[in-house]
Amino acid sequence: MNLTIIGTGYVGLISGVCFAEFGYQTVCVDKDQNRIDELNQSKCPFYEPGIEDLLNKHLNKTKLLSFSNSVAQSVENADIIFITVGTPSKRIEGEADLSFVWDVAKEISENIKKYCLIVTKSTVPVGTTKQVKKIILENINENSFDVVSNPEFLREGSAVNDFMRPDRVVIGCENQNSENIMRELYRPLNLNETPIISTSIESSEIIKYASNSFLATKISFINQVSDLCEKVGANIQDVAKGMGIDKRIGSKFLHAGPGYGGSCFPKDVKAFINTANNHNVDLSILSAVDKFNDGRVDKIADKIMSKAKLRTGETASILGLSFKPNTDDIRDSTSIKIAKILNQKGIKVKSYDPEAMSNAKKENPFLVLCDDAYIACEESKVIIIGTEWNEFRALDLKKIINNKNNLCIFDLRNIYNPKELKQLGFDYFGTGT
Ligand code: UGA
Repeated sequence: MNLTIIGTGYVGLISGVCFAEFGYQTVCVDKDQNRIDELNQSKCPFYEPGIEDLLNKHLNKTKLLSFSNSVAQSVENADIIFITVGTPSKRIEGEADLSFVWDVAKEISENIKKYCLIVTKSTVPVGTTKQVKKIILENINENSFDVVSNPEFLREGSAVNDFMRPDRVVIGCENQNSENIMRELYRPLNLNETPIISTSIESSEIIKYASNSFLATKISFINQVSDLCEKVGANIQDVAKGMGIDKRIGSKFLHAGPGYGGSCFPKDVKAFINTANNHNVDLSILSAVDKFNDGRVDKIADKIMSKAKLRTGETASILGLSFKPNTDDIRDSTSIKIAKILNQKGIKVKSYDPEAMSNAKKENPFLVLCDDAYIACEESKVIIIGTEWNEFRALDLKKIINNKNNLCIFDLRNIYNPKELKQLGFDYFGTGT
């Protein structure tokens, strides 16, 4: 099978590399020539464990993978074309901006030469895939193609594993022929008995948003409960454990923290609310989730200022800048948001992150970036653990406290044992403890 993937962002590149690993001849297309040049040198534009090895293997050894800046040339021989371009939030109302999807659909329609499937893999609001079909029908007849929705459920930091061992694959099709082709595409996953859920196109599009929104809801819920725990002397980790052991609830995504960030949840929750509003449907539960999450960083920054009695000109250290571990992605990172608020209050912010410092520096010149966690903590009044990178779990905290009085530690991700830290002499503040 010949595959063409248009858009080499996160979803596109991971999918392309992993489909090549399945054994398919795969062309990844992007109009950004610099990106294509770098990819042709096996350089991945973002940090993701495992991706560069696969990229190198299939670009240079198996030659199953290639890169191009031309949609026209790349779609001619394709059996399946995936649309994986970005769907950012529009400034107003959080609606998804689909202009890249429409442009690509038009270009595909002008260039395909034989029957193929055109698959939306970007996160797109319900109705988008059918709209893609309409655009394509302006140039070619309906027997020459089918459209499919096939959303992706990759987590940054573990995307290769998520692609190779997914909980499920969702395919939204209009007819049996396209379903058969999609089932054949994912046949390599039969080995792991991966469930393949076949639905209508609309259901498939909704499954993606409903899944992300539900996980975001779990997070805002546990964060609100954690605020209550702080007031009444309960411990959110015990509470989450006691809840999560109930199979109907499940223990995943019940980790209290500074709120959800990244390129997906904040954007997708807003877009899903927008879709509901457009159809006059009450999805106010999600508006509450979204509002609470947006305001959480301000409350955390206020808590840090008041508990640590931070004054203008004093220093705080933030360990971890990426929105989660094992990625250099700082989009909607809660650490960066907290750093910005502290900086606006006149606090000097020192920081260290294993992978995200160069991305962070570009947009946040006020950050004082340090070579390691220990240097970042020198001369600070407050240490904030913003991202739960493994290397922050076993820091030599004796080295950090160094006989200072009242050094405050805000363990936003609850990675340390409060008792041990208090014994060492820290003023310890966890989340929901
Ligand atoms: C998320 C989904 O998990 C993927 O299934 C989906 O494919 C992807 O969005 C997408 O739509 O492309 P991702 O944004 O990479 O993946 O990261 P998550 O692991 O879901 O974490 C999102 C945010 O929630 C992070 O800020 C994380 O720190 C936070 N989080 C997660 C919590 O605060 N508590 C938790 O218990 C779990």
